[in-house]
Amino acid sequence: MTRPMLEIADLSKSFPVRNAFGRTVGEVKAVDRVSLRIERGCVYGLAGESGSGKSTIARMIMGLTPPTAGDIIIDGESVVGRGGRSGVKAQMVFQNPGSSLNPRRTVGQSLSVPLAAHGHPRDDRQRRIGELLEMVQLPADFSQRFPHELSGGQKQRVAIARALAVAPKLLVLDEPTSALDVSVQAKVIDLLVDLGRRLDLTFLFISHDLSLMRNFAQEVGVLYRGRIVEAGDTARVFENPQHDYTRLLLASVPVISEEEERLRPAIPLIDGEIPTAEKLLALRQGAAGTETTTEVHGS
Ligand SMILES: Nc1ncnc2c1ncn2[C@@H]1O[C@H](COP(=O)(O)OP(=O)(O)OP(=O)(O)O)[C@@H](O)[C@H]1O
Ligand SMILES: [Mg+2]
Repeated sequence: MTRPMLEIADLSKSFPVRNAFGRTVGEVKAVDRVSLRIERGCVYGLAGESGSGKSTIARMIMGLTPPTAGDIIIDGESVVGRGGRSGVKAQMVFQNPGSSLNPRRTVGQSLSVPLAAHGHPRDDRQRRIGELLEMVQLPADFSQRFPHELSGGQKQRVAIARALAVAPKLLVLDEPTSALDVSVQAKVIDLLVDLGRRLDLTFLFISHDLSLMRNFAQEVGVLYRGRIVEAGDTARVFENPQHDYTRLLLASVPVISEEEERLRPAIPLIDGEIPTAEKLLALRQGAAGTETTTEVHGS
């Protein structure tokens, strides 16, 4: 068996819970003994509702948050305890392209920062910036533009180009499309699929939206309160979810095909909001005994 691109073993992260006086009164287990591996060239989708620990895992992989316990091995090298340096092998794209780009820098200046930091020869940087913009399907003259002159989708393309500047092997995408319109989301995903093939990238794709993963990820893991409650081949998880929470996550995403409609468990959804798993579970348990669910409206 070849070496996986990413291996996470028994990874945990606890945060202290403090009272109003700053005294530690407990701890929250944001990530609880998570293990997963991603083979080279594969896309692994990590799904879970808000607060389930997705970003905390991403930040630990990138060396931005030290784990409480466990190990993270990128391309055969442990990155734990290296003081916030995951090296150039892994790069991350964040949810909000608006705030991850410096508003006072042109696109070209933003792209030259990682190039300079990694010693890319000065006289070749302009050429490389053009190449990076082409990779994300933006015109070369975009290097003169400022972030406020770009649409959300274009900003996210620039953020992807910046992540690619140092030729990483692993891209960690933390909700890369959730701030974008649905039509733009699909185009950004298409771009990522294309880049993955062309550049032989491995992806950890984080989203609360399981339906987005269906065509993109070969494997998915479902995170619930810091734990992976279900993992495996994407088609298998979609067609035959084993865990209640996975079914609930599938039920709470918009239906896009007849096939998916059939897979939907019969759970009433709450008007105008994305229900939390707890609400859905409560609803479901309630629905077994009574027909009425009206009291949940507006909660
Ligand atoms: N720096 C921190 N200090 C204290 N608690 C934190 C910190 N970062 C995250 N947490 C807590 O850890 C848990 C997991 O948070 P995390 O941001 O990883 O969730 P998430 O799955 O990315 O959610 P979202 O979908 O909203 O982005 C939450 O309970 C959160 O409040
Ligand atoms: Mg997050």
